[in-house]
Amino acid sequence: MSTDIFDKCFSFHAVDDLKKTGCYPYFHRIQSKQGPEIIIDGKKKIVVCSNNYLGLANHPKVIEASISATKRYGTSCTGSRFLNGTNDLHEKVEKKFAKFVGKEDAILFTTGHHSNLGALSSLVSKGEVFITDKLDHASIIDGCRLSSGEFVRFRHNDEADLERQLIKHQGKAMLIVVDGIFSMEGDIANLPEISNLAKKYKARVFIDEAHSLGVIGKNGKGTGEHFNMEYEIDVLMATASKSLASIGGFIASKSEVVDYIKHNARTMIFTASLPPACVGAIDAALDLVIAEPERRIRLMEISNKMKEAFKAMGYDTNNSQSPIIPLTAGSDSVAFKMWRMLFDEGVFASPVVTPAVPEGHSIIRTSYMATHSDSDLNFILEKFKKVGKQLSVIT
Ligand SMILES: Cc1ncc(COP(=O)(O)O)c(C=O)c1O
Repeated sequence: MSTDIFDKCFSFHAVDDLKKTGCYPYFHRIQSKQGPEIIIDGKKKIVVCSNNYLGLANHPKVIEASISATKRYGTSCTGSRFLNGTNDLHEKVEKKFAKFVGKEDAILFTTGHHSNLGALSSLVSKGEVFITDKLDHASIIDGCRLSSGEFVRFRHNDEADLERQLIKHQGKAMLIVVDGIFSMEGDIANLPEISNLAKKYKARVFIDEAHSLGVIGKNGKGTGEHFNMEYEIDVLMATASKSLASIGGFIASKSEVVDYIKHNARTMIFTASLPPACVGAIDAALDLVIAEPERRIRLMEISNKMKEAFKAMGYDTNNSQSPIIPLTAGSDSVAFKMWRMLFDEGVFASPVVTPAVPEGHSIIRTSYMATHSDSDLNFILEKFKKVGKQLSVIT
């Protein structure tokens, strides 16, 4: 056994091997704003992998709010929310967010990942149980691992398996944790069934609305509103890094629950607070989510059009019900080749390979923005058709 912890780094060649094939898809240097079009190495690419669902990351009002927050509060809060890092803008957006999602209170963390780590690890203690969907986001898994509670998983969106786990752990305090829209699959958690089972077995429900806030529900409130069951969610988590065009994460719930998390979550206490520029952007983006439902309508129209068009071409779009449309490529090497060929054709996409997906089920994860033009979409379809055929992913 090696006695130098660096040995694993010196023998880590997977990336170099991939670079040699010309198909390394990560850490590309983007030289422009994030929109439907970006510039990489001086060349224009049409983006089909952004989480800027409503296209607000370049909105003049969002940019202006970010600049004016910086002018008023400076570039950093220089400390933890707990001590010297809370200002009135943090509290303003927390109140606005809580009101928007219909909860008593909300707390703003520095990232969405931190929200899940902090809220989950502080809520569930020794002798208590997390019941999670097998395809929950990594930050949920990390939050569960940080807790001293027990952590079990049920098969993706499978109510019968969820019930089996609830029966097995009946009598203990239980928290069911699911993504609202699943980040790779693009399908929606079955909240009506989850909620019924939670009531039956006296469990609480925690929903991660990272990809659903601003996207689904008549007013963009996410999964609860989509199913007309907003009040069935006990704890709602959302990121500000997607539809809200910034960074940061919210936890919204009853005021006692928010207060408890606020005083116990290590990622609230032991990290510096979200900088004013980011909070200002969230403030303006939230106003636009509320004031401009047409963005959401356009986004859903685009998503449906793309899904149907990909299906007609012969792509397997899995069970997508949202602006996230995963297209099955097959093996990792086909997914990497497909990524490269699309890139050369002017389309910037994301390959998702093992271990994030089972062997042989690698995907190109596509996602859409309300600001994609029809000609952007037609361009994307034309290139996926050409490349898919060349690689025999479609016939
Ligand atoms: C479902 C889900 N939850 C949480 C997060 C973490 O959010 P953030 O990137 O804003 O830290 C992500 C980010 O990709 C996500 O997809």
